[in-house]
Amino acid sequence: MMTDDTDQPKASGQSDLLPGEIFLSSVLSLLHTARIYQADNPQVDATVKTFLESISRLLVGHEELILHLENGRFYLQEERLPRRKGNEFILNNMLSYFMDRGITGLKIFPSIILTSPEKILYFANTLNASIRQELPVNWMEQRFTTSRIDWVELSQEGRESADDQPEPTSPEKNRPRKVYAYALKSVKEVAGKISTNQRVGIRKAARMAQTMVEEVLVHEQPLLMAMGTIRAFDDYTFTHSVNVAIMSLYIGKEIGLPKNHLERLGICGLFHDLGKVILPRGLLNKPARLSEDEFSELSKHSLDSTRLIIKLLSSPAKRKAEFLLAPFEHHLKFDLSGYPDIGWNYPISLFGRIIAIADVYDALTSARVYRKEALSPDRALGMMLKESGVVFDPVLLKVFINMLGVYPVGTVLELDTGEKALVSKPPSGKNMDRPWVVTLTPDGRGGYIRGQEINLADQESSGKFHYNVKSSSHPARFNIQPAQFLS
Ligand SMILES: [Fe+2]
Ligand SMILES: [Fe+2]
Repeated sequence: MMTDDTDQPKASGQSDLLPGEIFLSSVLSLLHTARIYQADNPQVDATVKTFLESISRLLVGHEELILHLENGRFYLQEERLPRRKGNEFILNNMLSYFMDRGITGLKIFPSIILTSPEKILYFANTLNASIRQELPVNWMEQRFTTSRIDWVELSQEGRESADDQPEPTSPEKNRPRKVYAYALKSVKEVAGKISTNQRVGIRKAARMAQTMVEEVLVHEQPLLMAMGTIRAFDDYTFTHSVNVAIMSLYIGKEIGLPKNHLERLGICGLFHDLGKVILPRGLLNKPARLSEDEFSELSKHSLDSTRLIIKLLSSPAKRKAEFLLAPFEHHLKFDLSGYPDIGWNYPISLFGRIIAIADVYDALTSARVYRKEALSPDRALGMMLKESGVVFDPVLLKVFINMLGVYPVGTVLELDTGEKALVSKPPSGKNMDRPWVVTLTPDGRGGYIRGQEINLADQESSGKFHYNVKSSSHPARFNIQPAQFLS
């Protein structure tokens, strides 16, 4: 629906609004005022003043104010503006205003505070008039450039690349793959900037964590976890960071963490090894055993992750503080005997203990330069179990093992019939070593075709099982990408 109306938000109830809502309300008031009054009217001055005040409040601790529209939801800085009674009027009005003009985002820089009320009125008039243009955003950008309005940037539909944030609600088959690809791309971007000493906003990582949390919460099956077995060797640090975030989220889900805690946990997982971006590449990929000096160099990375978050992440200090502890702690070990050397006896935080488990599990089940073949998931869990109570929190490790089952989704099994099969679902019954699998038939070209899905717990009337497991392997051993057969 194309409308040229901006309803005046009601002034009453303003005191109940949150800062983000006050900002949106002040934008709507400005647009409305610009329609009615000339620059010399005192009403304009008052509206501009309120508009600037609401911006100043939101700019505290930020380098820019970012309003972003995605699938009908507004995100201010990195936070989603929740719909609630009392703000629907504002959100709906702003939404139709943006949609009518094809605007998907607005970035406002602090220099706006120094600009004249006339320029702000010109900005509002341009936004209002753009509805009559064929390409509203392009037209506005041109006007802003000509009038030297450089404190605002607009974004519009279709500018983000196709593999950017996937639709949150689409039930499509490839969604877990897209979520994974999106997370990987975003982690690389953050790491790229950090490694060249550039500051990065938390917004993208937070959106990425929110998307992952939604994906983890929406499915019964750990489809997103199965994506972690797709590995590009060069990208180990990045795939590892994404995998650790995903696995941590599944543990968090299993122990019933609320959504906002899961989002924080996801970000901690994504950033836990950030300190590695400043290590020499040769050290990370060294095929031989590390010397003592090299190990001590490597051991700095958890502290460096925390340092880099403090130094280069642009976010209010309070928000940043939520991501400092777990990256710092992830190699400390449950009994505090790990690194860095600390002079206190406080137990590791819950997030630190979760990430430590996800971290080691992913490292063991990955092929690395010094260990060509990845351990099968059940062997990795067996090794970790030996360190229960020393390296890992015993309760959380138990939760993790129970969650994955004896043969986690994505494990390749060899059956006593000689067939290969891929674990597709955890066991439905009490036989923990009898999950659901899909059989894999060789396609004659070195690959496999997905066969039927069978429940390894199915028995004949005599009580004999139809199939038994002979051995288990990591899918990489047969060049199998589980995601291809599972989603
Ligand atoms: Fe690490
Ligand atoms: Fe790690």
